Amino acid sequence: MGAVKAPLQYGYAFVSTHRFSPKGPLTGRIRVPGDKSISHRALMFGALAVGRSRISGLLEGEDVLATAAALREMGAVIGKDGDDWVVDGVGVGTLLQPERALDMGNSGTSTRLLMGLVASHGITATFMGDASLSKRPMGRVIEPLSTMGASFTPSPGGTLPLMMEGMQPAVPISYRLPVASAQVKSAVLLAGLNTPGITTVVEPVPTRDHTERMLRGFGVTVDVEEQDGERIIKVHGPCDLTPCDITVPGDPSSAAFFAVAASIVPGSDLTIENVGLNPTRNGIYRVLEQMGANIEYLDEREVGGEPVADLRVRHAGLKGIEVDPEVAPSMIDEFPVLFVAAALAEGTTVTSGLDELRVKESDRLSAMAAALSLAGADIEEREDGLVIHGSGGKALSGGGPVTTHLDHRIAMSMAVAGLASKGGVTIDSAEPIATSFPNFIALLHKAGAD
Ligand code: S3P
Repeated sequence: MGAVKAPLQYGYAFVSTHRFSPKGPLTGRIRVPGDKSISHRALMFGALAVGRSRISGLLEGEDVLATAAALREMGAVIGKDGDDWVVDGVGVGTLLQPERALDMGNSGTSTRLLMGLVASHGITATFMGDASLSKRPMGRVIEPLSTMGASFTPSPGGTLPLMMEGMQPAVPISYRLPVASAQVKSAVLLAGLNTPGITTVVEPVPTRDHTERMLRGFGVTVDVEEQDGERIIKVHGPCDLTPCDITVPGDPSSAAFFAVAASIVPGSDLTIENVGLNPTRNGIYRVLEQMGANIEYLDEREVGGEPVADLRVRHAGLKGIEVDPEVAPSMIDEFPVLFVAAALAEGTTVTSGLDELRVKESDRLSAMAAALSLAGADIEEREDGLVIHGSGGKALSGGGPVTTHLDHRIAMSMAVAGLASKGGVTIDSAEPIATSFPNFIALLHKAGAD
């Protein structure tokens, strides 16, 4: 593992390539940083409460720091007290007019959830982001938030940079999600917090439910019913949020890179502590187990209202499977690393129903198909998924540099592939990793130590 000196010109910036090479088994104990989704929400809800909230275990990744900076622009006072973060909120209905454009960096979650907050406040805001975020569709939140009364001037194709004007009071709506997206669900519910009346979101397919869980922790009544297999979620606005102390569990999406690495690198026996296992997020572990992974759940407990366990993962011979598309929302961010597991499995893995992967930080189907092929895997790209013919445990040849497209999860997935390759895998830039997992490389070193 190490930075390779030759600089490449990539988009508007110069970046350095980075190589991840086989180094022997992954062993010992590691602790991954706090959950990204929960960290964003903890800051946002703290900013909406009147009084002081304290957050321990917040992920200090660039995406979450972008949320903190935007909330400061809108009046919240956010700082650190030792290892904890403290948020002195402004209250629902009293967000301040930001004086500068809100720079969302690479973060779709910051953008879409904050657009929801602004939508029902009488303020205007400009959202901008990096080259990856500026390609991602915002129409999916513009549509429901416009129905609530907000108005938008996006860039062509409904993208950033975008200007919006909130409406106070906004109009409550009942919105059936056309795509399984926790970001869209959360944007509408957050707009509903300052909207008089009942704002309803209908979810045909359940997505991560951190918004619902955490709003309750801040004293908001959130009604959730199941009807004909759909979830119906209601908030009664306007709401007051009561400040709250939150402990953020470890991110199951970050832990997944290490769970796959330990599964495919022979001789590994790694314990990953404090991993959040919310059932709307743990699909990757269920699918890895179907493939034959050896995962033990130790000391199962609750942290901050979320189920948590320490995961002991030992190397195992994985088998290719057909992945049920219904599991996709509960592991939507983990497909890139699942493709790596599949590339080392025995037999063929078929994935489908993954159109959403094309509009993440990169087009993750084509990015992973290209990257894994370059590293020596046998991949077929389909419209809505990948078909992967596994190596049966034989190390991939390795190679590169693979293109990460400013996508942290492509970078980390291909790093994991490098550990299970003969010659190592070079990625064009390790910089995107800092958006969600700043100490990823340090933890790899720690786990890779003999
Ligand atoms: C997130 C929801 C998911 C996920 C993203 C975080 C959230 O996005 O991919 O990393 O915190 O709500 P979608 O809502 O687009 O599926």
